[in-house]
Amino acid sequence: MKNDYAIVILAAGKGKRMHSPLPKPLNIVAGKAILAHIVTTVKDISPAQIIIVYSGDLSLYKAYITDSDVTWVEQQQQLGTAHAVAAALPYINASQSLVLCGDTPLVPSCELIRLLEQSKNSVGLITATPENPFGFGRIIRNKNNNLSAITEEKDASDAEKKIKEISTGIITAPTKFLTQALKLIKNNNNQGEYYLPAIIPLWLQHNAKVVTVAATDPMTVLGINNFVELAKLENYYQLQIANKLMIKGVRITKPESFNCHGTINADAGVKIANNVTIKGIVTLKAGCEIEANCILEDATIEENAIIKASSIVIGSLISKNAQIGPFAYVRANCNIKKDAKLGAFVEAKNTTLGDGSKANHLSYLGDAEIGTGVNIGAGTITCNYDGKTKHKTKIEDNAFIGSGTELIAPLTINKGSYIGAGSCITNDTPAEKLTIARSRQVVIDKWSEK
Ligand code: UD1
Ligand code: MG
Repeated sequence: MKNDYAIVILAAGKGKRMHSPLPKPLNIVAGKAILAHIVTTVKDISPAQIIIVYSGDLSLYKAYITDSDVTWVEQQQQLGTAHAVAAALPYINASQSLVLCGDTPLVPSCELIRLLEQSKNSVGLITATPENPFGFGRIIRNKNNNLSAITEEKDASDAEKKIKEISTGIITAPTKFLTQALKLIKNNNNQGEYYLPAIIPLWLQHNAKVVTVAATDPMTVLGINNFVELAKLENYYQLQIANKLMIKGVRITKPESFNCHGTINADAGVKIANNVTIKGIVTLKAGCEIEANCILEDATIEENAIIKASSIVIGSLISKNAQIGPFAYVRANCNIKKDAKLGAFVEAKNTTLGDGSKANHLSYLGDAEIGTGVNIGAGTITCNYDGKTKHKTKIEDNAFIGSGTELIAPLTINKGSYIGAGSCITNDTPAEKLTIARSRQVVIDKWSEK
């Protein structure tokens, strides 16, 4: 069931401090746009509406946010956070509104629920006390320790700048009050902007207090305004993911070098060495080992398989006990079966390598269906492309392909075929026979260069 609150995400600012060609909320944290992180989080709390205030080219935003249940509202001029909320007001039809800044990617949904529960029909906000409060609105409290105002960095006195408690910009208010208050806000401050926090004194004129909820972990609620802050947040987030994996029994040799830009499902007993990057959805089964500098994207690595150093595996399945790399490139729809080996400097695409088969060195295997117990010699190339169409190479069980062989597809190497090294094979080869396709070596006497 949807709850009676509207989420308003402010994502229209120019992001001047970011100096980024993209709108700030579209920059990437952990493989996903900041704004996309926020949309995923707010969906968790089933709001009645999600409204995003944007500016400029909407298609740019829609490239990152594909949800159809988002309402997009344009803020034509960027006159401040209150002005941005005012743009969204005509579209809000829930009685309570929750405003989030589009530069705060890691805010957990439980903090939003806590805020909403504690500030029903009231104004409330999430505060934090980070190590360095620079740049944030400071929380001003009265002698009863109740919040009386928020002062922006650029308007703060020296004494106010020393205050460590800050506003996260995550503010909730009854929509009816918001509608009245936003009309009254002035832009007489050092930035000449209409500030959303200026609703606070207006609320306090008629109500006892503003609810403040202190964030459990300040790092998760900090807005980022430049790439230094983004990098810090990214590191922090990556370490959190690594920690969760390690607690579950995954051995990560150097957690601070672990990069997850997608979703990882890893069993206890998995080993991950330094500087491994995860993208898309990656599943790692018990006992598998990922050596240093590997990139895995939309891949499943089964039990006890080893991905040796500096290998890339994309969109593929690596089955039990298989070995990949070092320096292998397995891309797009490969199925490397049990006990198979795809070794150093081997590239494979759209290829099945059967149980126990081996391509140990320097090969290209494209659009190939390779049976069990096959040996592919060093430097073998499936010539799968004729300039227009891709063709298939079928290599049946127990075939032996000598080193330096070119297999011109479409082609079938029948069961147990034995191909002499250096062959250029253009026709299907018979089962259990030796086929050699290379010119004979000749020695020419009395040869001279001239
Ligand atoms: C804002 C808050 C500050 C808080 C901080 C938390 C105000 C005035 N200040 O400051 O109290 O401590 O967030 O991170 O609210 N935006 C628009 N339209 C505009 C201006 C901004 O959509 O006209 C959007 C921006 O894209 C951004 C968000 O609002 O996602 C916040 O704007 P930003 O400029 O980052 O505000 P801060 O200075 O960080
Ligand atoms: Mg900000």
